[in-house]
Amino acid sequence: MPNFIKYVREEIQIIRERDPAIKSSAEVFLYPSFKAILHYRFAHKLYLKGHYFWARWISQRTARKTGIEIHPGAVIGKGLFIDHGHGVVIGETAILGDNVTLYQGVTLGGTGKEQGKRHPTIGNNVMISAGAKVLGSFKIGDNSKIGAGSVVLKEVPPNSTVVGIPGKVVKRDSVKAPQVELNQTDLPDPISMELASIEEENRQLRRQLAELCRYCENIHEKAPGEIPGKERIPEAQSNGENKINKENGG
Ligand SMILES: CC(C)(COP(=O)(O)OP(=O)(O)OC[C@H]1O[C@@H](n2cnc3c(N)ncnc32)[C@H](O)[C@@H]1OP(=O)(O)O)[C@@H](O)C(=O)NCCC(=O)NCCS
Repeated sequence: MPNFIKYVREEIQIIRERDPAIKSSAEVFLYPSFKAILHYRFAHKLYLKGHYFWARWISQRTARKTGIEIHPGAVIGKGLFIDHGHGVVIGETAILGDNVTLYQGVTLGGTGKEQGKRHPTIGNNVMISAGAKVLGSFKIGDNSKIGAGSVVLKEVPPNSTVVGIPGKVVKRDSVKAPQVELNQTDLPDPISMELASIEEENRQLRRQLAELCRYCENIHEKAPGEIPGKERIPEAQSNGENKINKENGG
């Protein structure tokens, strides 16, 4: 019982700190995160003692009730908060540090290609936004943020913001990553590189077309003698050339 009261107190503090929507402490009991983490702690103890069936039983029952599926084998530090929660999946070999925040639809999963440790390790104070997928056995560095809808497949350095599919570092230590540094997570993105080169080519073509249009307008408006680089052709000479051309079949 004292443990439960301690847990409730901690949860109230965590939720108050991270969700401005909470109005009273009693609301903490309505949060799926509250139930899911409480049940996970119990299931994890059973898992560590080898009671795998009962550990999974609790985990699956909680998933049905809350929409949050935490495998009892996962290792979770203090201060986890799962906002909303529906569709959150935390795999068996995932490790979460302290004060991690997850939003609905987050998957901490495997790629299906790895054996043993198959799920990510999440550092302290990491925020993983709605719908983000972190797939594979690598680390998300402390204090990093993963943008909504991202798919992260490679290690993320600490203090970074990662967005996109595949996830790329767009900010590190609150400084925007320059374009050339976008490869820092070793996540080359051939499609966006190709699009960037097409965009540049398009820009050049537009510039050349605009110059051509200006030149044509110039020709139209000015008499031939006034066009820079063009000499007015004397009438007689011009006729003579035409005649020669006609005679030559030109
Ligand atoms: C990633 C996030 C946390 C912002 O982190 P941040 O470090 O403050 O980063 P910024 O807002 O400065 O964004 C950096 C760049 O990434 C882009 N970006 C931010 N989030 C993005 C996302 N989810 N997908 C694609 N690009 C994104 C920004 O447009 C910006 O690009 P720019 O440099 O070309 O302008 C935030 O955008 C996010 O995804 N929040 C979602 C939170 C959530 O899940 N809420 C659900 C509540 S129910």
